[in-house]
Order: sequence, then structure tokens, then C-alpha cells
Amino acid sequence: MSTIYIVGSAVTKFGELWDKSLRDLIQDAAFSAIKDATLEPKDIEAIFIGNMAANQFEGQSHLGALVSSFFPHFPPSMRIESACASGSLAMLTAENALLAQRYNTVLVIGAEKMTDVDASVTTDILAGAADVEKEQRSTFPGLYALLAQAHMQKFKTTSEQLANVAVKNHHNALANPHAQFHKEITVQDVIQSPMVAEPLHLLDCSPISDGASAVVLSTKKHHSNIIIAGTGHAQDTLALADRKSLTEFASTQKAATQAYAQANISAADIEAAEMHDCFTIAEIFAVEDLGFCKKGKGGQYIQQTQTRQELNPSGGLKACGHPVGATGVKQIAYLHQQMKLGRWNVTLAHNIGGSGATAVVHILKQGKNL
Ligand code: COA
Repeated sequence: MSTIYIVGSAVTKFGELWDKSLRDLIQDAAFSAIKDATLEPKDIEAIFIGNMAANQFEGQSHLGALVSSFFPHFPPSMRIESACASGSLAMLTAENALLAQRYNTVLVIGAEKMTDVDASVTTDILAGAADVEKEQRSTFPGLYALLAQAHMQKFKTTSEQLANVAVKNHHNALANPHAQFHKEITVQDVIQSPMVAEPLHLLDCSPISDGASAVVLSTKKHHSNIIIAGTGHAQDTLALADRKSLTEFASTQKAATQAYAQANISAADIEAAEMHDCFTIAEIFAVEDLGFCKKGKGGQYIQQTQTRQELNPSGGLKACGHPVGATGVKQIAYLHQQMKLGRWNVTLAHNIGGSGATAVVHILKQGKNL
């Protein structure tokens, strides 16, 4: 099987970017990633763009054609939608095309511009990622609140442990210039912030964000020592009511098992993990379901001052921001940039769609002999 190298990456600033259009963000990320790869736009053979709802946020459908038109040679281009996992599934679609030897070098983009409509409209668009018939347009804070309540009841997870996820991720974001928030917060700040959906306060939630990210993938090494060493992709029921358990994401567990097996590693080998912390409870689920600690112990695990893995070093969705279609690509772009600086050798990206119905795990490795 071919090896897939990450040869370039870029992430725009995340936040409320009222002076930038979706096109500006996509062009900025795409051409910066190509430059980072020391390639030319004409070297891109195909484009895969992860985006959840540009047709609803901006009234712009047909993103594949739009993005292709930014290139003088109009490469084949397609949009991939899978709610908040759109970015990582754009990655997987691109990787499959490379493995099928259809192309040698492709561009993957993740992008979303969410702040040009009223927050209530954004919340309703996001509700489309749940089961609209069975869950009746429940909000995502509401759905994750149910998961948090179940975890708190079964494992005695506390509000302080939830808050601690936000405190850690806001702290990590201080070192990330692209992050939406550069503000240290305390457990008390989280607990005293307005209640959104019991037990989740405003500061337990990821924000509404604009942003884009891009990576260049190639079956040719170019100058890169960083590869996609393993991937996993699994699904679960769309509606929470149909789940066997409300205290775990079976999709994450299955995707992680596939990715660890393909990369020939275990959870203990991961040095840094970018995880899908759309709400603080989601990072507690993630550390458990990815096998970093025992089931039910996620809150305690994250509370430790030193964990085996660096957990959401970018600031995660919580503090770096969550422009939904951009997130899965941003996780990989961020890890690639840090690994290029020699910060880690084995890392993991974990991206969720909806309330755990879709899970995608990527493992990246670097080494001189790859
Ligand atoms: N974390 C930290 N600060 C936040 C924040 C968040 N999630 N959301 C808003 N803020 C800040 C704003 O920057 C603003 O600060 P300022 O007064 O200093 O400018 C302040 O809080 C009020 O912001 P506002 O825009 O009025 O917030 P809101 O009430 O419209 O939205 C949430 C807050 C939590 C409801 C919104 O961020 C949200 O819906 N998040 C979840 C998004 C989601 O579901 N994503 C999909 C996940 S699966």
C-alpha cells in the first residue's frame, strides 16, 4: 500500500471574522498550505473540501466547483459533508483516492463561516446534524447535556471536572496564535457562567466560529517526514434514544481500534491528541473511548497536572474555536505544524459528527526513516 505524506498545511485565524468571506478564508488556507509544501497550485491534481452547511450559512452550494475555479487548471474538486466530521471525512476521501492511485498529490480543505447569521439560526442549522425526526431539532448543547447527566450519574463525574477541561484548553490556546480565545479562565469562571443546558454552562461549550484549514497530501515524499500511519472511521445510531449506552461513544472506540491496529501502536504510544471537545463532557468521553484511561475515570484523568499525552494542545474546539467543517482538517494541520518543529513523533486526531454518530481517528507519525 502507498504511504501518504502530509507535505504542507495551513490554518487561518479562527473566530468571529466579519471582515473575511468564506472565499477569503478558503483561499487563504489553500494557497498557504500549497506554499508550505513548496509546491505550485498547478501541482494540485484534485481538491476535497469538508464543509457542513455553506448552502445554509451563505446560500452557497456547489463548493467543489467554486474552489476549483480558484485554480488556473480547474482540478477535479468535491465537497464532503458529515456535520462536524466533514473535515476528517474529506481527509479520508482524499486518502482513499491516493491509495487507489487515482492521484499523487491532492489538497484537502476544511471551511465554515458561521457568524454571518444570528446565533439562533446557527443553532438551528447545527440541529440538522441530529435526527430531526426523532430528536425534534434538539440543540447540541441539549443533547450533550443529556450525555453529561448520564456520565455524572453513573460515574460521579463532577461539574468541576467538566470545568477543568475548559480551563486546560483555554490555557493551551494561549500558545496558539490562530485560536479564537486567548483568555485564561478558572473553574469558578466556568461554573458561574450562564447555564446553557444543565449541567453545561456557556464556558463548557465550544463557540460559534469562522475559519478554514488545509493540508496537502502526497504519495511522493517531497520534504516531509510525516505520514498518515493509521485511520479509523465508524458510525453509531444518529438518535441518542437508539443507543445502547449514553456514557460512551462506540463509534470512537471502533475508529480508534482500527487506527491503532493500522498504525501498529497502542493508546500508550500517543504523545499528543487533538480531540473533539465540542462540549467539555465530550473530551471526558474521548479520553476514555480512545483508551487513554479507564471508562468512567476521564474527569479524574484530565484533572491530573501531567497526563501521558498532551490533551488538546491547540486549545481544542473549546478555545481554538469550532468552525464545524474546518475542525477535522485543522486538527491534522495543527499536529503537522507542531511535528515539523519536532514537538512529537506520534499523534492522534479525533473528530466527531453529531452526538457520536460519526467518529474518525487519524494517527500521524514522523521519523527520519519513513
Ligand atoms: N466559550 C467562551 N466564550 C464564549 C463562548 C464560548 N463557547 N460563546 C460566546 N462566548 C463569549 C463571547 O465572545 C462574548 O464575549 P464578549 O462579551 O467578551 O464579547 C460573550 O461570551 C457572549 O457571547 P454571545 O455571542 O452573546 O454568546 P451566545 O449566547 O450567542 O452563544 C453559546 C453562546 C454557548 C450558546 C454558543 O457559543 C453555542 O451555541 N455554542 C455551541 C456551538 C455548537 O453547538 N457547536 C456544534 C457542536 S456539536
